[in-house]
Amino acid sequence: MKLAAITSLSSAVVVLAQTCSLPSTYRWTSTGPLATPKSGWVSLKDFSHVPYDGQHLVYGTTHDTGSTWGSMNFGLFGNWSGMASASQNKMNSAAVAPTLFYFAPKDVWVLAYQWGPHSFSYRTSSDPTNANGWSSAQPLFTGSITGSSTGVIDQTVIGDDSNMYLFFAGDNGKIYRASMPISNFPGSFGASYTTVMSDTSNNLFEAVQVYKLQNQTRYLMIVEAIGANGRYFRSFTATSLSGSWTPQAATESNPFAGKANSGATWTNDISHGDLVRVTADQTMTVDPCNLQLLYQGKAPNAGGNYDHLPYRPGLLTLQR
Ligand SMILES: *[C@@H]1O[C@H](CO)[C@@H](O)[C@H](O)[C@H]1NC(C)=O
Ligand SMILES: *[C@@H]1O[C@H](CO)[C@@H](O)[C@H](O)[C@H]1NC(C)=O
Repeated sequence: MKLAAITSLSSAVVVLAQTCSLPSTYRWTSTGPLATPKSGWVSLKDFSHVPYDGQHLVYGTTHDTGSTWGSMNFGLFGNWSGMASASQNKMNSAAVAPTLFYFAPKDVWVLAYQWGPHSFSYRTSSDPTNANGWSSAQPLFTGSITGSSTGVIDQTVIGDDSNMYLFFAGDNGKIYRASMPISNFPGSFGASYTTVMSDTSNNLFEAVQVYKLQNQTRYLMIVEAIGANGRYFRSFTATSLSGSWTPQAATESNPFAGKANSGATWTNDISHGDLVRVTADQTMTVDPCNLQLLYQGKAPNAGGNYDHLPYRPGLLTLQR
């Protein structure tokens, strides 16, 4: 009896120690820029990160000195200061604004992206470290939206036990969702979708990401917004991926991450990136006790042509 009581008390302590509620006010510290683009590229952007073999595997968007968007991966690196010297490997066939994950049910890696042959496309691989080892493009989503100058943009994909979900933006104040049974994946979500949030264009601009909070039945969505002081992320939570989203830290003065709370001095913008996940799989799980955001930032005085802005990777670490 006594032993059982001690055992259950200690397991209760373990459970409590393994999960954290999200703060109502986020406070981060930031690294400086973690890498500079290799010769021929002006920017490194739109990062997607997975843990791989105890190291970091990152894909991203590039832009050259002319008018061409592209994509790349970094060679594996073991710690964030290693990102600066990691190889930068061009994808010969671009996968812009990539979302990388391991689809565990079928033991295959998936790279979803925009501006391929379909509204959204994906490719598969057994070796995601090889930037040029991906299959040909398959349709991920074939629908279209109205009231958007960009069309569908910035997909992310996440699964629960039953379904896979596609979330995306349109630079137009709307966040959209499509879904399919997990047994049909990898495959196309088809053309139909639901609008899950509506606001001003600035408030729901782009770069939507959705995560499962480890050991909680709770999901976290972050969406990039345009503020008076630069790009920032707003957060929302839901108890189901098919459910509705509640604003969490969703203002420019109390954002999920932005100039107001990033701790970064080299950039005002906290823009398109990925929370550091605890697993590479389709559950997109993050540890709310140890949140880190790999983001894109840029020198505050950089201006001119959006396509040539000198975005670089940086990393935020949540302070508790
Ligand atoms: C980080 O990784 C680099 C190589 O990528 C290595 O030289 C350095 O020692 C590592 N730093 C730490 C603190 O482990
Ligand atoms: C927390 O979740 C992980 C999987 O994400 C699981 O391996 C672990 O057992 C869970 N811990 C508890 C206390 O439920």
